[in-house]
Amino acid sequence: MALFIVLDGGDGAGTTTHSHLLKGFLENEGYKVHLTCEPSQSKIGLLLREFLKNKEIPATTDALLFAADRDLHYQNEILNKLKEDYIVISDRYLESSIVYQSVQSDKISVDWIKEINKFVGLPDITIILDVDPKIALARKDDKALEKFEDNQFLDKVRNLYLTRAQTENYYVISSDDIIEFVQEKIQKIIIDRLKNMS
Ligand code: TYD
Repeated sequence: MALFIVLDGGDGAGTTTHSHLLKGFLENEGYKVHLTCEPSQSKIGLLLREFLKNKEIPATTDALLFAADRDLHYQNEILNKLKEDYIVISDRYLESSIVYQSVQSDKISVDWIKEINKFVGLPDITIILDVDPKIALARKDDKALEKFEDNQFLDKVRNLYLTRAQTENYYVISSDDIIEFVQEKIQKIIIDRLKNMS
């Protein structure tokens, strides 16, 4: 059954852990599941991973590259899997660009991010995992921090995710809880949607 799910949220919110757990759960339920992430595995995605460690890269360059990476990712991978009736789970997607790149620079508006991303398909379900950046960053090794992993920046990111979730009607789940509890809440949202579809 084709369904496009996105888990998004600030750094350290657990999108990767929960995407993997969700995949395992849905496969156990008998669904075909394709798990993917952004930045993607393409050459643009790999370049973006390098740029995440480099503060000299302009925010506008980041935004354009994330859009290009997403365009390729959607047209050549996600869309094909949806056509083959897979449930696609993406660990981050367009909402990450809307939030991170607009917080990165005053020059960047949400509308411009939408414009440069306008050829990609939108998810059926977006779930925002919410956590206080102080808690999220405390789990990380200071020396390995990427350019966005800074408390003040991530507070702004968190606020924008929460505002956007209200206007766009996204699900918001606090991930400051036992992993199994958080995962159960995510699973319930997806199972309810799948029941409504069948
Ligand atoms: P993250 O998902 O935290 O991966 P890892 O856990 O492997 O470090 O890293 C992705 C980073 O990229 C994260 O800080 C958010 C940022 N990002 C953007 O700024 N814009 C985007 O469009 C996407 C997809 C990610």
